[in-house]
Amino acid sequence: MILVKVGGSLQGAEEVLDELALFPNPLVLVHGGGPEIGAWLTRLGYETRFVGGLRATPPEQMEVVEMVLTALGKRLAHGLGQRGRKAVALSGRDAGLLWGRAVSGLGRVGEVVRVGVGLLLDLLDKGYTPLVAPIALDEEGPLNVNADTAAGAVAGALGWPAVFLTDVEGVLRDPSDPESRISRLSPAEVEALKREGVLQGGMIPKVEAALSALRAGAPWAAIARGRKGILEGVLSGRAGTRFS
Ligand SMILES: Nc1ncnc2c1ncn2[C@@H]1O[C@H](COP(=O)(O)OP(=O)(O)OP(=O)(O)O)[C@@H](O)[C@H]1O
Ligand SMILES: [Mg+2]
Repeated sequence: MILVKVGGSLQGAEEVLDELALFPNPLVLVHGGGPEIGAWLTRLGYETRFVGGLRATPPEQMEVVEMVLTALGKRLAHGLGQRGRKAVALSGRDAGLLWGRAVSGLGRVGEVVRVGVGLLLDLLDKGYTPLVAPIALDEEGPLNVNADTAAGAVAGALGWPAVFLTDVEGVLRDPSDPESRISRLSPAEVEALKREGVLQGGMIPKVEAALSALRAGAPWAAIARGRKGILEGVLSGRAGTRFS
């Protein structure tokens, strides 16, 4: 059993769909959608502002974010289904899955305050693979949650390991050198990397999400590049960066 976060940076990567479809054990998936959300907002004439790796989301843009994420989820679920894995695209709004709270100053950007795993467990029990879009709910409606943050929260609530698949081999000591992967990191070592400024942009919420999954009860977490054979590589400790 693993929770896998599929980075928006991997959308359309056939080998990642193959890899997930062929994994022999239960999976819960959480997907991102950064590039596609950005493209649609631009097409509709909106400007995007990022603060600490998070996309500020004025209420009028939230509808676009939700439409794009929902469409992406359906497409991913269909791709998995074609490969023989019965996936169901859900949103964190469904059946109390993700309850959130708005992050001050960023409009409808949210953080997760509570995860209800009942629907996930029921689907798994029936042999379906749940695929969750990172949208939470508060009293006012849907919230845009960073997909790494959502994935970390769900893994913690399930008590399952979390694997964050992205477009780099793992945490790199030198982000411009793909050979500089760090194979293991403790929370204290992460703090040192942050102080040194090694973690930038999208890697910051990803590492934070890995650590918060551990704090919430996940046995381990890893960041790795989405490709053929990667889940076996991560499970055996040969690929990616593992946090424990
Ligand atoms: N020290 C580092 N090691 C590795 N990657 C780093 C580091 N610092 C910054 N990065 C950047 O983090 C990026 C991965 O995060 P990014 O948010 O872009 O992708 P994603 O999370 O897979 O996709 P999405 O956010 O759409 O779900 C890498 O492509 C790299 O450019
Ligand atoms: Mg990201």
